[in-house]
Amino acid sequence: MNALEKSLRIIPFAKPRLLRLSRAYGQYVWDEAGRKYLDCHTGHGAAFLGHRNPKVVESIKHQMDVIMTATPAFQTDIADEVLSKLSRILPSGMGYVYFLNSGSEAVELAMKIARKVTGRKRFVAFRNSFHGRTMGALSVTWNPRYREGYEPFPWETRFIPYNDADAVTSAVDESVAAVLLEPVQGEGGLTPATQGFARALAEACEGAGAFLIVDEVQAGFGRTGRVWAHEHLNIKPDILVAGKSIGGGFPVSMVAVRSSIGERLREAEHGSTHGGNPLALAAVSGGIDVLIGDSVPSKSSLLGEKLSAELKKVVERCTHAARGVKGMGLMLGIELRFSPEEVIRELQTKGLLCLKAGATVLRLLPPYLINDEDIRLCSELIEEVLSSWKPEKGGSGA
Ligand SMILES: Cc1ncc(COP(=O)(O)O)c(C=O)c1O
Repeated sequence: MNALEKSLRIIPFAKPRLLRLSRAYGQYVWDEAGRKYLDCHTGHGAAFLGHRNPKVVESIKHQMDVIMTATPAFQTDIADEVLSKLSRILPSGMGYVYFLNSGSEAVELAMKIARKVTGRKRFVAFRNSFHGRTMGALSVTWNPRYREGYEPFPWETRFIPYNDADAVTSAVDESVAAVLLEPVQGEGGLTPATQGFARALAEACEGAGAFLIVDEVQAGFGRTGRVWAHEHLNIKPDILVAGKSIGGGFPVSMVAVRSSIGERLREAEHGSTHGGNPLALAAVSGGIDVLIGDSVPSKSSLLGEKLSAELKKVVERCTHAARGVKGMGLMLGIELRFSPEEVIRELQTKGLLCLKAGATVLRLLPPYLINDEDIRLCSELIEEVLSSWKPEKGGSGA
């Protein structure tokens, strides 16, 4: 029976893609008719290491035969293993981590920690930011479409322009608990932070005693050409938040804090039944093996350059529909002259899955496994759709 004919339905928060996925492997997914799609949607970027990456699958399968349920109150071998592997990739000075299940939950904990440790109640975030949809995370998420009807939020947030060093200097004062930064804005439109802005932000935080929370949920774990996207900016987070791809597509997220912050946190100040579940930790362990063993950051950098170069050529030939290429590494987008929704739908019918960012950006979050042939196919299909684009097809001209 088709799920839509049943009386029980999933709340339609997500616009239906009208595509039934039956199988996925690597950079591809297949529909029920056996048709193959190049996946640049990857579950909002979660399958960046490729669908069912064998190292991740093997690690989870092994863990299932050992222990599947244990909270952080108990010691386990898998927790020791993950801590040891993570300590090799986290920024220096990070002395504590806590595992959760989603990016929003991790942002929520980062904010709770900033609130508790600084004793302050105000946050600063950026226009076009996206940090999730739980109430704390939503309070620092900019898009009014997600916020409407949910006020009041637990904490007051001031939204200032991204990449504006002067705005940062005047907004970050001694009443601010933390500033939340996406090193590359994902959902908001694939805008990378500039070095000058990031430096000014780090200095303003240090001067005011506010924490710098770097949200690497979308940009982190090798996608931009470095393990962490903030490494491009020469800044050091006080609190780092990661999620999406760290478990190779398995639901797991993480908050890492500087030692001096972690030392101030006490028993019962937070907790989560499934946070740090052994299967999730096994997924992270396998994920780190892939990240390091397969040189994911340098592959992302190289493949990102190739894909970006091809997309730029498409834009040059389709200036009636496209304005330019945005993003970095394998976090790329084409700025269109209209809403990308119809383009996304047409690309799906041609065998390419992608998603939207901001109001007018066609977003591509491919796995690091894409090859030259995939890159060629991706740019050819996008060109096919954009070159025949007529304004009357949909999307308001901008
Ligand atoms: C930068 C960033 N932070 C937080 C989140 C929220 O993550 P989740 O959807 O896993 O709750 C997202 C999700 O897209 C994100 O891109």
